[in-house]
Amino acid sequence: MKTLLDFFLFLIILCVSIIIIPVVHSKCIPDQQLSLLHFKKGLVFNASFSSKLISWNSSADCCSWVGVTCKANGCILGLDISNEFISGGIDNSSSLFQLQYLQSLNLAYNKLGNGFQLIPSAIGQLTSLRYLNLSHNYYSGQIPIEISHLTGLKVLDFSYNNFRLPESPLKLESPNLHMLVENLTELRELFLDEVQISAPGSVWCQAISSSLSNLRVLSLSNCSLSGPFHESLAKLQFTLSLIHLDYNNISAPVSPFFANFSNLTSLSLRDCGLHGTFPKEIFQLPSLQSIDLSHNPQLDGSLPEFPKNGSLEYLILEWTNFSGPLPNSIGNLKMLSAIFIHDCNFTGSIPISMTNLSQLIYLEMDGNKFEGSIPSFSRPMNLEVLGLDSNRLTGNINCTHWGNLTKLSSLSLRGNMLNGNIPTSLLSLPSLNFLDLYGNQFFGQFPEISNISSNFVKYLLLGSNNLEGPIPMSIFNFRRLTWLDLSSNNFSGSFPLDDLQQLRNLSDLRLSDNNLFLTHDATNFSYSYFPQFQFLMLASGKLTTFPNFLRNQSKLYRLDLSDN
Ligand SMILES: *[C@@H]1O[C@H](CO)[C@@H](O)[C@H](O)[C@H]1NC(C)=O
Ligand SMILES: *[C@@H]1O[C@H](CO)[C@@H](O)[C@H](O)[C@H]1NC(C)=O
Ligand SMILES: *[C@@H]1O[C@H](CO)[C@@H](O)[C@H](O)[C@H]1NC(C)=O
Ligand SMILES: *[C@@H]1O[C@H](CO)[C@@H](O)[C@H](O)[C@H]1NC(C)=O
Ligand SMILES: *[C@@H]1O[C@H](CO)[C@@H](O)[C@H](O)[C@H]1NC(C)=O
Ligand SMILES: *[C@@H]1O[C@H](CO)[C@@H](O)[C@H](O)[C@H]1NC(C)=O
Ligand SMILES: *[C@@H]1O[C@H](CO)[C@@H](O)[C@H](O)[C@H]1NC(C)=O
Ligand SMILES: *[C@@H]1O[C@H](CO)[C@@H](O)[C@H](O)[C@H]1NC(C)=O
Ligand SMILES: *[C@@H]1O[C@H](CO)[C@@H](O)[C@H](O)[C@H]1NC(C)=O
Ligand SMILES: *[C@@H]1O[C@H](CO)[C@@H](O)[C@H](O)[C@H]1NC(C)=O
Ligand SMILES: *[C@@H]1O[C@H](CO)[C@@H](O)[C@H](O)[C@H]1NC(C)=O
Ligand SMILES: *[C@@H]1O[C@H](CO)[C@@H](O)[C@H](O)[C@H]1NC(C)=O
Repeated sequence: MKTLLDFFLFLIILCVSIIIIPVVHSKCIPDQQLSLLHFKKGLVFNASFSSKLISWNSSADCCSWVGVTCKANGCILGLDISNEFISGGIDNSSSLFQLQYLQSLNLAYNKLGNGFQLIPSAIGQLTSLRYLNLSHNYYSGQIPIEISHLTGLKVLDFSYNNFRLPESPLKLESPNLHMLVENLTELRELFLDEVQISAPGSVWCQAISSSLSNLRVLSLSNCSLSGPFHESLAKLQFTLSLIHLDYNNISAPVSPFFANFSNLTSLSLRDCGLHGTFPKEIFQLPSLQSIDLSHNPQLDGSLPEFPKNGSLEYLILEWTNFSGPLPNSIGNLKMLSAIFIHDCNFTGSIPISMTNLSQLIYLEMDGNKFEGSIPSFSRPMNLEVLGLDSNRLTGNINCTHWGNLTKLSSLSLRGNMLNGNIPTSLLSLPSLNFLDLYGNQFFGQFPEISNISSNFVKYLLLGSNNLEGPIPMSIFNFRRLTWLDLSSNNFSGSFPLDDLQQLRNLSDLRLSDNNLFLTHDATNFSYSYFPQFQFLMLASGKLTTFPNFLRNQSKLYRLDLSDN
């Protein structure tokens, strides 16, 4: 008996010892290995989808199993069995809860809750836990009060389950937000996305700020929170670094005190029913890397002058009522990689300084009131998407605009007042997939494209311009074309419909309202292959006989043969 007691004492001393001896091979402690094997045996999972649990077997030391981390002395410190398709097998009696030295437990992306199960309250026994991640597990119902006993927790992630935290609890066992966090004073990161909290600003802001004075990360997206923001949140102004509150109907202005959050790197308030004027000083916070205010159509605002060497990487304001010009100093934000400001009310010209944003990948400014000419975007060599449609842009575009954009895959300039010739060099850009120049005033001929370096172009929309002359036959070399719109121009000459056989993916072809002679071989009744069209617009094409390929179309949704 004495030796057994000694042995346990020895174990405890071993495991709680804070001296970490840097030994490479930690040997698993036998009873912990047994607990793990027992734990595994109880789990419901499919071995064909497992990459971690499958390696847990008694022939290897448990400290070498995938997902298990041990202290140098062999005590199990961490378990990461996320993403293992586990669909059950953790209840109050699970051997998991014997691993009392466990500091880190990640069970994310399984199906432990199966849509109806509760978190076993025995989890409260794991009092050494500092990191607990149960996100994405189909859990539902209440969060057990025992979680509030895990007072050493630094990171808690319960997001994307189906939990509820009642506003005023009926029983002690079903805590509200305040009770859940009141003793978790060590918390640095709290993720409760999609937990139904249903509390007004005064309640949730105070519950968080009165207890969690070390909090850096607050992620409460889609929690049925309401507003307005309560001033108590300003207590966390020196610590909070990430605030994500998307999809809550805050229905209030953004408080000016956020401009005092000196450690803020990421602010996300997408679709929060915000109104009033956004405090522009927030954009000037030197630590800010990402801001998303999108889908708040009643939120007014404008952009301030940006300081030199700002950290901003993501500027996301789409579907807001932001207005006014883009300041020249936007060019100071050298780290910017994504600008989504489409469907706002911005005016003025596109600052030339933006062409210095060498990290840009996405630039979407459609649906504003930008005017003037388009500066040359050949500097941001990683640019993939450039959207400027539905503005009031004028002037021409030429090869100097895009020469080096080898990664550009989507360019949309639809619905402006651009003119001049369309530079064919555009079509030689090696990654271009989508080109939409519809509804401008481009004129002149569209010459043959000699060096088609790639065949990636799938969408080529040039309709409603003033293009003239023959349609270049090299169009048939764009073998991936699925949508070709050349309608409502002044194209002339003949266009051999039979050659469409080469464009096997084409499903939308619009050639109406030109001066074209659409030709085809009226004697050919059997085409080995012809594209299956959904949209086929061939109005005013001077056809005199019915195109036979039309007899074999099964997906046709709209066909226009009028005025032939
Ligand atoms: C595990 O998944 C494979 C592949 O989907 C399936 O064939 C097998 O029946 C599954 N086994 C169990 C026990 O569900
Ligand atoms: C036990 O796991 C190891 C690797 O983790 C593997 O090489 C060995 O084949 C497994 N043994 C059994 C009996 O499954
Ligand atoms: C929880 O685990 C998932 C899967 O490993 C991970 O993506 C997520 O970032 C984790 N959450 C936290 C707060 O670490
Ligand atoms: C776990 O045990 C507690 C009592 O200790 C009980 O109230 C609870 O319902 C049990 N939970 C589960 C999920 O088994
Ligand atoms: C938090 O700790 C205090 C003091 O130990 C205790 O009175 C209170 O009941 C605890 N709260 C919860 C929700 O457990
Ligand atoms: C918000 O959560 C609800 C479930 O509570 C879900 O149906 C909805 O799709 C979520 N909304 C978003 C935008 O994710
Ligand atoms: C600011 O945030 C960083 C990173 O999250 C953290 O290391 C630092 O301690 C925070 N500052 C304060 C005052 O909390
Ligand atoms: C958001 O809250 C406001 C004020 O409570 C309410 O008038 C509005 O209908 C809510 N919007 C949605 C989408 O629920
Ligand atoms: C920001 O902090 C300063 C100094 O602490 C204070 O004077 C000011 O009122 C605060 N601003 C807001 C909007 O809370
Ligand atoms: C832009 O502003 C005008 C009035 O200045 C307003 O009528 C319109 O709704 C605003 N557009 C958007 C997208 O907010
Ligand atoms: C574009 O690339 C060419 C070489 O291919 C180089 O001479 C030119 O300076 C580049 N232009 C810009 C604006 O970087
Ligand atoms: C290209 O277009 C820009 C803007 O419209 C214009 O300033 C420039 O002179 C043009 N370059 C050439 C070579 O036509």
